[in-house]
Amino acid sequence: MNIHSYEKLWLVASMVLIVGFIATVTYGAVGLGIAMIDDSESSIDPDGLDEDERFADPRVAEMDDGTYEAYVVAEQYRFNPDPLEVPANSTVTFHVTSPDVIHGYEIVGTNVNTMVIPGEVATMTVEFEEPGEYGVVCNEYCGAGHHGMEGEVHVVP
Ligand code: CUA
Repeated sequence: MNIHSYEKLWLVASMVLIVGFIATVTYGAVGLGIAMIDDSESSIDPDGLDEDERFADPRVAEMDDGTYEAYVVAEQYRFNPDPLEVPANSTVTFHVTSPDVIHGYEIVGTNVNTMVIPGEVATMTVEFEEPGEYGVVCNEYCGAGHHGMEGEVHVVP
């Protein structure tokens, strides 16, 4: 083998690698190798919350199976509804969205702590056992009134 043969060999080897990488990425993106997270259901028009059946009237609603759905709007500079009331010994799924800028939604003392992004609905489920009161804070800087953006969740007997 002379030098040119080695060069050709490496050239071919590197081409095979490149084609291999592209094939791997393509294979994954097509969905055969990677489970893509589908967030299409959670998008929403931030300017159209007034016409959205979930958020036009922010509220807590009881479902047929005895669980609760809470629809919350985080906006400059308040949470709606506030205070939000749920019964003790309940399972509550929160749906939170924003009509203006990015906010945070943290129910202090629970594992609820999420970013609230205009155009998206943040969803999480919590179980409340004992009656009590929880503070809610916005932990993303959202403007001049950010530090005063607070709310409450009341777990009632
Ligand atoms: Cu809303 Cu900070």
